[in-house]
Amino acid sequence: MDKAKRRAVIAGNWKMNNTAADATALINAIKAELAGKDTSYCEIIAGVPFTSIAAAKAAAEGSNIKISAQNIHWAEKGAFTGEISGAMLKEAGVEYVIIGHSERRQYFGETDNTVNARVKAALANGLKVILCVGEVLEQREQGITEEIVSMQTKVDLLGIPAEEMKNIIIAYEPVWAIGTGKTATADQAEEVCAIIRGVLAKLYGADVAEATTIQYGGSMNAGNAAELLSKKNVDGGLIGGASLKAPDFVKIIDAAAQ
Ligand code: 13P
Repeated sequence: MDKAKRRAVIAGNWKMNNTAADATALINAIKAELAGKDTSYCEIIAGVPFTSIAAAKAAAEGSNIKISAQNIHWAEKGAFTGEISGAMLKEAGVEYVIIGHSERRQYFGETDNTVNARVKAALANGLKVILCVGEVLEQREQGITEEIVSMQTKVDLLGIPAEEMKNIIIAYEPVWAIGTGKTATADQAEEVCAIIRGVLAKLYGADVAEATTIQYGGSMNAGNAAELLSKKNVDGGLIGGASLKAPDFVKIIDAAAQ
């Protein structure tokens, strides 16, 4: 299988932006920008805050924009104040959930073990996963990017069977490139996405590795998306800042057409 046969996936991670009213307006603006375009070559996802899920879903109806949450708890239910379960997300109608984003790891004590537990909870509830991995600047400078990203991929996927991998997208997000305007070069993105695919091949065999969508995330924008997405192992993007503006987000979707 080659890149052309993998699903291109362009996903916005809105982070803690957009109230329900804002979500409606942004989805409507994206729909207007997409009007008349054939976007069947890629999957389009908006990763929205919990409280904006209902509004985003309603606004996206009739379009091919799918809605994602940005976190999930690993337990089915119980005394976990402030958390949201898989069943709750499923009921709210999301199709995807972003798990293990570096901001969760950095600010909320997320570890590879809790990421792994959350991935299992998502799959158990019939949700698809965008699993984020990536090194921090010190790790890149120490030359241990390969080790870090390989370890994250292995631990985050521990106990996940091969047949579930069709429900998992991996997002390579170098932490030093997130929200900094400092994008990885296309070659850097390609190198690490290829490393991740190599880890998947070891874990699950070549067929699963070749079929898995691997995104790049980190200051991807309308100007640099085409070059990043031209790389053999970069199958899509997970976009923060540029996903908050409909024209920019749609330019990135356009760039995935190649
Ligand atoms: P930016 O595109 O704002 O750098 O954010 C990337 C990201 O964290 C997506 O999950």
